Amino acid sequence: MRFSTIALAALLAAPITAPAAQEQAAKSDAALPTLLDSDDPKQVYDQMCAGCHGYRGDGGEGHRGGFSPHIGTLANKEYMANVTDDYLIMIIKKGGAYMGKIATMPAWEKKLSDDLIRKIVAHIRTF
Ligand code: HEC
Repeated sequence: MRFSTIALAALLAAPITAPAAQEQAAKSDAALPTLLDSDDPKQVYDQMCAGCHGYRGDGGEGHRGGFSPHIGTLANKEYMANVTDDYLIMIIKKGGAYMGKIATMPAWEKKLSDDLIRKIVAHIRTF
């Protein structure tokens, strides 16, 4: 008799606690920032671009192991003064290979909106 009371209690408790745990997990997932929901150009740049370009575009700090090569052009003021926003937007959208540059530069047009790419270009211009 005693055993079955415990078993019944466990049965009753199970369906209540399981969904509660799932809900908790869903909440903590939602708390993680998902990049593509962010339209903060610095945040997106630091997470998606700095791995190769560095936080300041010099291929230095922010460069991550496994990301290669170190690309320093974005911090080269003379170079940057001579390229247009349209060029920068185009290479970000289409990637390096499309523009005759090193192909490890990914194409971002399917991941980042045009608006966000424009904001990222403005951010790059501050380096
Ligand atoms: C896996 C490495 C990698 C990542 C990640 C990456 N890039 Fe690049 N990027 C490159 C390479 C390689 C080049 C080409 C350099 C060359 O050919 O001189 C490049 C070139 C560029 C250029 C043109 C610079 C020039 O030399 O004319 C821009 C602008 C640029 N990237 C922006 C971005 C932005 C914005 C992001 C993030 C949304 C990004 N890159 C992410 C590797 C990367």
